Amino acid sequence: MSSLKAQFITLEGIEGAGKSTQKEALCRLLDANRVPYIETREPGGTPYAESIRELLLSHSDDAPSAKTELLLMFAARAQHLKTKILPALEAGTWVICDRFTDATYAYQGGGRELPLDWIETLETLVQGAKRPDLTLIFDVPVALGLGRAGRRGALDRIESEDLAFFERVRAMYQQIASREADRVVMLDASSDVESVTESMISLLMTRWNLSCRPG
Ligand code: TMP
Repeated sequence: MSSLKAQFITLEGIEGAGKSTQKEALCRLLDANRVPYIETREPGGTPYAESIRELLLSHSDDAPSAKTELLLMFAARAQHLKTKILPALEAGTWVICDRFTDATYAYQGGGRELPLDWIETLETLVQGAKRPDLTLIFDVPVALGLGRAGRRGALDRIESEDLAFFERVRAMYQQIASREADRVVMLDASSDVESVTESMISLLMTRWNLSCRPG
């Protein structure tokens, strides 16, 4: 394969977009091409950040305000970035991260309608100039995504938001994709899983000049 620096790849989309399945396919592609990588997720990814995840996603009578939620997302991210993501990238290990700051723009900016300049300020504070090398957004109509997510069982605090919330989340992801076409690829995830995987794998093999298809 090409002598690419270790890539920081993030996967995004509303609930039920099929991120997890496509993440597995992406990992199989990297395995087939002997690319060293770690898988991680946000909010979470380290023991400390996973404790923050628990606070963020659990149902509570004393639920966090939108501002508290925003700050906790970035608190978890600061820890995750410093102790896991950056050390891996510096060691030449690719990082596959299930959600990152685009989720904050989509959920806290779009869904919760917090000012985007607050998010930009926190992004710079926590990340400096660090951004993912590639972000895959799996786009699916809200009703379809939520229908799939609902079949998986009990919904967490954020998953329990209403349709209008997720329409705003999806619209923000679409805006990000059209604004940042170099970094972000949006894939139509409404068709069957195999077709979505096929499009993703073809795109990535070309982008990274990989020779082996996943088995
Ligand atoms: P997950 O269920 O895909 O692991 O994501 C956890 C939830 O957290 C999901 O509903 C999206 C939400 N989230 C935010 O609201 N803002 C963020 O910055 C991140 C990373 C996730």
